[in-house]
Amino acid sequence: MPAGYSTCRHTKANLEPARTSGLRSGSRWDKIAPMNGTAQQAVILAARAVSKTYTLDSVAIDVLQGVSLEVRAGETLAIMGASGAGKSTLLHCLGGLDRPTSGAVEFQGRDIYALSGAARTEVRATKIGFVFQAYHLLPELDLLENVMLPALSRRGALARRAQLAQRGLALLDSVGLRDRAAHRPAELSGGEQQRAALARSLMNEPELVLADEPTGNLDSHTGRQVLDYLFRLTRGRGHTLVLVTHNAEVAALCDRALILRDGRLS
Ligand SMILES: Nc1ncnc2c1ncn2[C@@H]1O[C@H](COP(=O)(O)OP(=O)(O)OP(=O)(O)O)[C@@H](O)[C@H]1O
Ligand SMILES: [Mg+2]
Repeated sequence: MPAGYSTCRHTKANLEPARTSGLRSGSRWDKIAPMNGTAQQAVILAARAVSKTYTLDSVAIDVLQGVSLEVRAGETLAIMGASGAGKSTLLHCLGGLDRPTSGAVEFQGRDIYALSGAARTEVRATKIGFVFQAYHLLPELDLLENVMLPALSRRGALARRAQLAQRGLALLDSVGLRDRAAHRPAELSGGEQQRAALARSLMNEPELVLADEPTGNLDSHTGRQVLDYLFRLTRGRGHTLVLVTHNAEVAALCDRALILRDGRLS
């Protein structure tokens, strides 16, 4: 096992300093109104013997080889592993973005890949927030439009546009980017784009956030800031967070950490 990589479980008490550092009560944070109910302790996300094989030039790469896991509502889980171990692949499978070769992914008790494409898109759009490793902000849209995008595809969005814009601005405010709302992604630093991507992932108040190395490209100070935002807007509100990281210190801030190695979690 690589140094610093361990399966760990932290108590609520020893997480407290990390959860609250740099965060003020009564801050602009609290102005973002929750859009759904409170957390339950049920299993919200499960992988059942998930395997994924990519075939390139008739060479098969078995990236995931029977990954099983259960994540409870409100839990924060870190997934670690070497580069190329399949962490992004697993996150995409968990988020309904990439169909496993075999096995099942259950979100809120339903096999997400047994749903029709439209139903799966609806679940993804309304209940799951994704922070991609490479941000994936749309270059032709300004920051506010990027943040609002997940909500704009929903029914009735046009009529609610002003309200959605307010929420988008509040989210940008919460990650310290309100004054950059009219800027295009190319006019922002990597860390700022990462924060904007984070705000976008939270636009629909998702019950589950899947974050792929959200601090991977950031210096430690900015990384810590982004993590504070992420934890505050997910765990602080009873939502579930699955976070991929190479950083053992980041993993230690989560309730639990698992390592992906040889296609399996341990
Ligand atoms: N669409 C694809 N087609 C073919 N092979 C792929 C595809 N996506 C990923 N792979 C391969 O699967 C393996 C796992 O990739 P993945 O991106 O999941 O790793 P990772 O653990 O996220 O790595 P990193 O820490 O560098 O982000 C790699 O060998 C990669 O080349
Ligand atoms: Mg990756």
